Amino acid sequence: MCGIVGYVGPRPATSIVVNGLQRLEYRGYDSAGIAVLHEDRIHVRRDAGKLSNLIALLAQQPIDGNLALGHTRWATHGRPSQQNAHPHSDASGEIVVVQNGIVENYRELRESLQAEGIEFRSETDTEVIVHLLALNYSAAGGLAEAVRKTMGHLKGPSAIVAMTSREPDRLVAARLGNAGGVAIGLGDGETFVASDIPAILEHTRRMVFLEDGQVALITRDGVQVETLAGQAVKPEIHLIPWDPISAAKGEFRHFMQKEIFEQARSVTDTIRGRVDFDAGEVVLGQLNLSPERARSFNRIVIVACGTSAYAGLVGKFLLEAIARIPTEVDYGSEFRYRDPIIDEQTLLLAITQSGETVDTLAAMEEGRNKGAFVVSIVNSIGSQAARVSDGVITMHCGPEIGVASTKAFTTSVVDQYLLALALAQARDSIGPAHRRRLLNDLAHLPRLIGQVLDPNDNALYLDLAERFHGYRNFLFLGRGINYPIALEGALKLKEISYIHAEGYPAGEMKHGPIALIDREMPVVAIAVQDSVYDKMISQIEQVKARSGIVIAVASEGDEFIASKADHVITVPSAPPLLTPVLSVLPLQRLAYEIAVWRGADVDQPRNLAKSVTVE
Ligand code: F6R
Repeated sequence: MCGIVGYVGPRPATSIVVNGLQRLEYRGYDSAGIAVLHEDRIHVRRDAGKLSNLIALLAQQPIDGNLALGHTRWATHGRPSQQNAHPHSDASGEIVVVQNGIVENYRELRESLQAEGIEFRSETDTEVIVHLLALNYSAAGGLAEAVRKTMGHLKGPSAIVAMTSREPDRLVAARLGNAGGVAIGLGDGETFVASDIPAILEHTRRMVFLEDGQVALITRDGVQVETLAGQAVKPEIHLIPWDPISAAKGEFRHFMQKEIFEQARSVTDTIRGRVDFDAGEVVLGQLNLSPERARSFNRIVIVACGTSAYAGLVGKFLLEAIARIPTEVDYGSEFRYRDPIIDEQTLLLAITQSGETVDTLAAMEEGRNKGAFVVSIVNSIGSQAARVSDGVITMHCGPEIGVASTKAFTTSVVDQYLLALALAQARDSIGPAHRRRLLNDLAHLPRLIGQVLDPNDNALYLDLAERFHGYRNFLFLGRGINYPIALEGALKLKEISYIHAEGYPAGEMKHGPIALIDREMPVVAIAVQDSVYDKMISQIEQVKARSGIVIAVASEGDEFIASKADHVITVPSAPPLLTPVLSVLPLQRLAYEIAVWRGADVDQPRNLAKSVTVE
């Protein structure tokens, strides 16, 4: 969850590393630090709080060189403080390390190091790594060897990068388990390392990704990769298609706002090149699924976390309606703790924007061990989820930087629609004419998204934000395929505005939550014209009968609902299976404007991180 950036090359390294950290701050913002090699000595600057504190410190105490290593922290062990900030140094100050992950056996290691007289200066698990590196260094004959030895002592997922003033031409990175990515960017006479692509994308698109159990020796000439056992590995170079501009905020106030307004384009990119509209066929190039295997599935199990899990709940409707395969959805964090029933006839579908969420990765492993065919829908190219899957469907939505997921939600719903069609095609569950109709529906989706995301509508959202930003609780109601949208709307509001919000299946309201309804609990009701529209109207009536306030998301031209609800946000009519992609958009915009009104830190909400690489 923490962010790491390193540089070795001819240019001044501090600004490269700090700029990279700025692009990774969404991964953690409890503290930040940098180590720079200057005139044969390593100089460390670090501070608690956001990166801006480190930048201010660097302005007071500037330092530069051609080798540097930086870190933004999401605290696991030890509170956010200057002392606990990375990089951590050994007693001599000649070796430093940064880590993303957890050293699960750090207590034993710390005790045995203390028994040898080593003094600890922080409460972090990471500090044990640097002391182990120092101990192993002289015996090992070099930093790479010391890293290899040290990794052998660690338990738990961990990605580290280390440097030493004794070897001023290199960084050494290593990865153990599902600790999150380590991307090594190959430049011209310079090399970069980072825990996520956007940090270094402005410098190069040629990247090597470290696998579990690998060590990388990074010099300005490139990278050498070896296993922990010392066996050389030929690095595979990936060309990243994202452009650096798409990883920048541009004219938008926040990344989240930019990403909301990008959705017509990201959905277009997700469809582009994958659909033959005339033949009614879908081609998912990396799915690697033979028609025989596709016909063998008797169920689909979707595993994901957070927003991705809610996308999966929409996907259940799509896969069951189109491919006619029974589908269930489980949280990655719950799945493996209940001995799930999985076999070779199961298609296990993982949805993960980052491709690094440790709970989702563990669920995938569980599925794979039990013989399932594992497909992942991922956004991060080269991520662990993509690498360990039998088949991959990429989201094609470009980097998502805002901590609250928006465009990854809509593109992963569209990916599931495409997957459902690809399976239907292989299994003949619906005929070509029906498939053509469904694809034709999809072709109109980007235009409809564009209508909901009309920036000229902002006055409506600003008005709602002004009226409602002071409320402390919200209820979101939806039904059928729009029930997951109620969950997602509530999640968006709570995570960025810190207002308590609950998503509920509208029909269940009378079984409990109706007791909460009063003037203090606005109800957001998704009541688009679909098969459960009349039921939603009854639920709105029930709220109004108890003096509740209703904000409805309704279909354009629905005059009736305007007489029932207090406030109405409209979306264009859409084919039933695609309504969630439209109805989620006003909820994203509403959450965003309320959070901005409240002065919340929209892109970096407290306590959260973009890639959740710890359990
Ligand atoms: C919410 C949000 C999170 C993520 C979740 C899974 O806005 O972003 O709930 O959806 O942490 O992340 P990925 O999709 O990267 O596995």
